[in-house]
Amino acid sequence: MTDTLTMGQRLADLHATLTPAEQANLKLILGLSAGQLVPDKAPTSEQSRRAVSEALEILCPYDVADPRGLQYRGRPDFLTDELLASFIAEKDEVGKTAVPFDEHYLGCGGTVADRVAVSPELAALVASVVPKAEATGIASYLFYRDAGQGIIPHIDTDIFSLNVLMMLEHEIPDGVEEPSALYMHYPDGTEERLQLSPGEVVIFLAGTQAHSRTPIAEGERVTILTFGFMPEGAPLENYRR
Ligand SMILES: [Fe+2]
Repeated sequence: MTDTLTMGQRLADLHATLTPAEQANLKLILGLSAGQLVPDKAPTSEQSRRAVSEALEILCPYDVADPRGLQYRGRPDFLTDELLASFIAEKDEVGKTAVPFDEHYLGCGGTVADRVAVSPELAALVASVVPKAEATGIASYLFYRDAGQGIIPHIDTDIFSLNVLMMLEHEIPDGVEEPSALYMHYPDGTEERLQLSPGEVVIFLAGTQAHSRTPIAEGERVTILTFGFMPEGAPLENYRR
C-alpha cells in the first residue's frame, strides 16, 4: 500500500508519527531543503523538489484553496495615508538602531507597528483570505541598505508561517533596469516576480511557499514591515525568535 504513496505523502505520514519536537525538526529540514531545491532548475532536482514541495503543502497548517503564491495583494482600507506616514516615520527611527541580521538589517517593531500587529483591522484582513490564523503580535522592520543585500530562496519557520508584508520604501537609483523584487518559487521550477510599490501589502504562507528577495544594487534601498501570524491555538512559546 505504501508503495502507491508519493514521496511527499510518505514524508507527511512520517510527520504524523513524530513527537512535536521531532515534527519541528522535520519541518526545518524540509524547509531548508525547499530553499535549495525549489529554485534549482536542474532536471536532476525535479523529483526531490516536487517531493519536498508536496510534503510542505500537505503539512500546511492553514485551510486555503491553494497554499501557493499570494493569498492577497493590495492596499487594505485600514492603511490610510496617515498610517503609512506613521510607519515611515517609525522605520526612520527604528532604522537608526537596526542590527545586521543575515542579509538585511532588522529592527523590532515600534509603538505604531506593535499596535497594528494585534489590531482587529489587520486580523480581519488576514481572516478574509486565510481562516484560523492568529496574530503573533510580532512586527519587524527590515532594511535592505547595502549593495548585494537580499534574501535567498527559503521557507520561514513557524513564527512566520503566515507573513503579512508591507512595502514602505523602495528607492531605485537611475540606471537600475531590474530593481530588487520579491519572488515566489514554485514546485515546477517556475517563479513569479513581485515588484511592490510603497503602501502595497501582500499575504502569503511563508512556511509553505518558497520565497526570496533579489539583491539590491548600489544606492538602492528597500524597507519593509512584516507581521507574523501563526495557526490558531498554536502555543505562542513555539513562535518566539
Ligand atoms: Fe521569509
